[in-house]
Amino acid sequence: MARVTELNVNGTPHALDVDADATLLSVLRDQLDLTGTKYGCGEGQCAACTVLIDGNPRHSCQIRVGAVGKHHITTIEGLEKNGVLHPVQQAFIDADAMQCAYCTSGMILGAVAMLKVQPNPTEAQIANYMNGHICRCGVYQRITEAIQLAASRMKGNA
Ligand code: FES
Ligand code: FES
Repeated sequence: MARVTELNVNGTPHALDVDADATLLSVLRDQLDLTGTKYGCGEGQCAACTVLIDGNPRHSCQIRVGAVGKHHITTIEGLEKNGVLHPVQQAFIDADAMQCAYCTSGMILGAVAMLKVQPNPTEAQIANYMNGHICRCGVYQRITEAIQLAASRMKGNA
């Protein structure tokens, strides 16, 4: 049975020894204790488990850890730098863009990826890009406001 012995997460190589068929989500949560990444549906339908792989948002419940190789994984725990939250994290707090917060890690990572390719998104563009991120609490309007607040701050306009 193939094993995976190293994973590059949040800028650090992590030694481990796991079955290559395990999901990336289970390895992040159960082996590396990075529990900010959430298990929602386990079927690629909710995006609660979103991580960035080389900067691109991916459903970690749908990825076998053996397929990750040397690619760089970023989880919600990796966004803060030197004690300072990422502007998207701070904007979600300031806009009160969460209720139970189960979807929040995935939402924030999706938004970080979106703002790289679309730094000034309209509401419609946010709805389109974030389509697939399910919030059971339905705080979509505040999430949209948070993303626009982050976009504005990242351009130095707020
Ligand atoms: S838990 Fe991965 S998409 Fe829902
Ligand atoms: S805040 Fe509860 S699922 Fe989104």
